[in-house]
Order: sequence, then C-alpha cells, then structure tokens
Amino acid sequence: MPQRRGMFITFEGSDGSGKSTQASRLAAKLRDLGHEVVETREPGGSPRAEAIRALLLSGKAARYGAFAETMLFNAARADHLRSMIRPALARGAIVICDRFADSTRAYQGVLGKVSDELLEAAEEAVVADTVPDLTIILDLPAAETLERLGTRRVSGGTRDRFEEEALAHHAALRQAFLDIAARSRERCVVIDARRSIEEAAKRILNVVITRLGPDDPRAGEQREKKGDGRNQKRR
Ligand code: ADP
Ligand code: TYD
Repeated sequence: MPQRRGMFITFEGSDGSGKSTQASRLAAKLRDLGHEVVETREPGGSPRAEAIRALLLSGKAARYGAFAETMLFNAARADHLRSMIRPALARGAIVICDRFADSTRAYQGVLGKVSDELLEAAEEAVVADTVPDLTIILDLPAAETLERLGTRRVSGGTRDRFEEEALAHHAALRQAFLDIAARSRERCVVIDARRSIEEAAKRILNVVITRLGPDDPRAGEQREKKGDGRNQKRR
C-alpha cells in the first residue's frame, strides 16, 4: 500500500445540509493556498464506483434490502479508495470527499438496521487505515432540512402524515451523525449548518488550517492574514 502523506477530509450530514456547497468552496480556497486538491464523492468517485452509484440511486438495489445495499456501498468504496483516494493521498494531495463511511453507518446502520458488527467488519476490510483525518459534519435540524429540500407539506398550519414521516427520518439521521461525532471527537467537527454559506465556509477553513498545522508554511501565512485560526473551538 502506498504511504500516506496528504490529508483526507470528508463531509457528512443530511441531504441538503450544504455538503457539496462547502466541499467545493473549501477545495477552491485550498487550491488558492497552493495545495493539490482532489474533490470527490460517494457513492461513486471512480468510474467503476460511479456504475455502482447508478444502480444504488436508481432504487433497484433497495429491493434487495439494506444488507445488499451495504455491500454495494462498500464495493464502490473499495474501488474508490484503491483507484482514487489512496494514490492521491500518497502523492500528498488533500482529498475532499462528499460523504464516506459515516453515511453507511447512518443510513444503512441507523435507518436500515444493519448491525454494528457487520458495518464494523466491512469498514475494517474496506477502509482499513484510510480513516479520514477530518470529518466535517454539517448539522441541520430536521424541519430546516425539509425547508431546504423544498419538501415541506403543511396544510392549515398542521403537518400531514408524510411530513411527520419525513421529519422523523431526518431527525434520526441527524442524531446518527451527532452520535458519530460524539464517539469520534478527534476526527469529527460539527458545524451548525443554519449559518450562512459564507460563515460556515469560514469556520470550516479555519478548522482545516488549524489541522494542517504550523509545519505547513501556507497554513501559517493564511493564519496571519486572517488572525483567526488559533482560537477555533471544536464542537
Ligand atoms: P448537500 O450536498 O448536503 O445535499 P447542497 O450543498 O447541495 O447540500 O445544498 C442544498 C441546497 O441548500 C442548495 O440549494 C444550496 O444552495 C442551499 N444551501 C447550502 N448551504 C446553505 C446555507 N448555509 N444556507 C442556506 N442555503 C444553503
Ligand atoms: P446524493 O445525490 O449524492 O445525495 P446528497 O446530495 O445528499 O449527498 O445521493 C447519495 C445518497 O446515498 C444519499 O441519500 C445518502 C446515500 N448513501 C447511503 O445510504 N450510504 C452511503 O454509504 C453513502 C455514501 C450514501
């Protein structure tokens, strides 16, 4: 396995929490600072994994149940890691991935009721030591997730059954990501996704620059310019 030198950053959170918006803004900022950045996503990110993504998102895989979906997400991840992520990290790039293994924990684990034992075994086999250095969890209350996704269905000021179900779904997902953050405090940073795009982007950049550390001369320059990198409080 190639030696790892770069930095692996993942974005997690509910649909519509701003992951892709923030991932691309962070990538642009880090490129401005002179880093090689590889932007990618899951499921997908490599040609073979994108083929599995199409199957997963078509809804056809769902017929086989959460266990089969777990295997497919992991099969896609194995190819993505082998062909894209590990080589990029080995040459020193910063890899920014929109969703990764925590999504399997939240969606297939908490929502799909796949056991922790199975998820852990798959993660150990597939992710192995390519655990993200930093995971940004964009946290949005369920009602605001529905608002963002434009799927609120309120009639006469009361929620209908579909909205109640959707709210419960998003609340369970939100809690799943917060539980992951609580278990992996070193790796995960929770960002309040109700903040403006600009404000959230600034916080995320500060966290990344702090993690890049004083050994990175470009991080130092940026800290001096902004004067706000050191006192960032982690949540
Ligand atoms: P995700 O990748 O998590 O599904 P997106 O980045 O695609 O989320 O954002 C979903 C929608 O919400 C987009 O229309 C985007 O412009 C909007 N959005 C993203 N971040 C914010 C924010 N902080 N405040 C308000 N709207 C946002
Ligand atoms: P996508 O269109 O990329 O959604 P989003 O904008 O929310 O990131 O679709 C990815 C979907 O796949 C999303 O609903 C989450 C789900 N997913 C899982 O269920 N398990 C996983 O391991 C991953 C990576 C994603």
